[in-house]
Amino acid sequence: MGPAILDDNHESAHLEFTPGTPGGVETVDLPILHGTMGPAVLDIRKLYTETDYFTYDPGYTATASCESKITFIDGEKGILLHRGYPIDELAEKSTFLKVAYLLMEGDLPTSEEYITFEKNITHHTMVHEQLRNFYSGFRRDAHPMAIMVGVVGALSAFYHDSLDIRDPQQRIIASHRLIAKMPTIAAMAYKYSVGQPFVYPKNELGYAENFLHMMFSTPTGSYTVNPVVAKALDKILILHADHEQNASTSTVRLVGSSGANPFACIAAGIACLWGPAHGGANEAVLNMLKEIGHKDRIPEFLEKAKNKDDPFRLMGFGHRVYKNFDPRARVLWKTSQEILDELGFDNDPLLQLAKELERIALEDPYFVERKLYPNVDFYSGFILKAIGVPTTMFTVLFAVARTVGWIAHWMEMIEDPAQKIGRPRQLYTGHTLRHYEPQTHHGI
Ligand code: ACO
Repeated sequence: MGPAILDDNHESAHLEFTPGTPGGVETVDLPILHGTMGPAVLDIRKLYTETDYFTYDPGYTATASCESKITFIDGEKGILLHRGYPIDELAEKSTFLKVAYLLMEGDLPTSEEYITFEKNITHHTMVHEQLRNFYSGFRRDAHPMAIMVGVVGALSAFYHDSLDIRDPQQRIIASHRLIAKMPTIAAMAYKYSVGQPFVYPKNELGYAENFLHMMFSTPTGSYTVNPVVAKALDKILILHADHEQNASTSTVRLVGSSGANPFACIAAGIACLWGPAHGGANEAVLNMLKEIGHKDRIPEFLEKAKNKDDPFRLMGFGHRVYKNFDPRARVLWKTSQEILDELGFDNDPLLQLAKELERIALEDPYFVERKLYPNVDFYSGFILKAIGVPTTMFTVLFAVARTVGWIAHWMEMIEDPAQKIGRPRQLYTGHTLRHYEPQTHHGI
């Protein structure tokens, strides 16, 4: 195959092939599509039919899988915009539910729109009473993410009136149900694991407040939500609400592309998010710090992280897209200082260890050359730990926040007239044709 040459006005690229290649063509014109921001893309949809070639891009490092208007990221410059608004402005000035509306609807809500939206979400916070029985099928020591995958998937067995994805009204009801019920389901997973009674949601509380109430109150005492804690949690939710076509969002889109119901799609997103390379990283950060144990052992762990024969990686560092400081990490770094001050956690030994690790890694040539900066998960874990959320619930909270992004993308995909079932191809490197010969088993 020869070079790809851009035409003068950058509307197409000519790809040249060596004569005699499969398909017999010598050149093919690939249209160039321009978005409103970010790199243009080569439209390769006709490549296979015209040339007999597929493209090869494991991990989709250079592949746009869809067109989207929701989130824009410039990883080199450390920019993240939701519907055009910078993430730091949203985190400072907005609330999670307003950001949810923005992601789903495209614009920030007017006061009237917000009142209706908040009412709809509040109206759906309880789960079907029978769903409570579902929990007792799990072992008490089950990881709450395992429970989340099961219970969220099971919602499709309880809410039959919002499963028809071709009906826009049913899609909206399913979306509101998911956003509203996720904190309830998450808090129930926690309560189940500690053997405490489930706590019903309270409609007069805000989204983050309600979650804290369902997590930490018990029937035996009174519990008042600390507003500083609720605000910090709301900020964490905003910062995790969406992140373009990441692994779990792409999973939701792929599952949804077959026409699967929204509850099944979100359960699949949760399963993907659970992995330590994705949402499981904030839990992995704290586990790693516990394993390091003391600052004297930091060099030993940094060496392990650099050693290509060792699978260990420094959790909370690096990002597929950001090759600069993750803008969400910047906001969370500030929030973590505020909340740790408020709660008197400044001298926490794990936090001290994390600060030292951050300092040493940011000066280490291996991390500097590869542009490996602390990511959002490096800081979110400390805030959650300080507010009393157990480590196993960290990824669960990420899932609560990201549900909004998953839904926005799922909705966008369903409404896209060009939507097709997702079906990647492959570079086959297995056996060529061979014929079945019955095996002779000696001694049997
Ligand atoms: N520790 C040590 N080395 C690393 C790390 C790390 N955390 N991250 C990347 N590298 C190295 C790679 O080994 C590679 O080195 P090489 O060029 O010598 O081969 C180089 O940096 C480039 O990294 P890639 O593996 O190409 O980066 P990729 O985009 O595939 O991975 C990922 C991104 C998965 C996030 C990775 O950085 C990682 O595993 N980080 C730790 C887990 C983590 O914190 N995940 C959270 C992501 S953020 C989120 O989900 C919200």
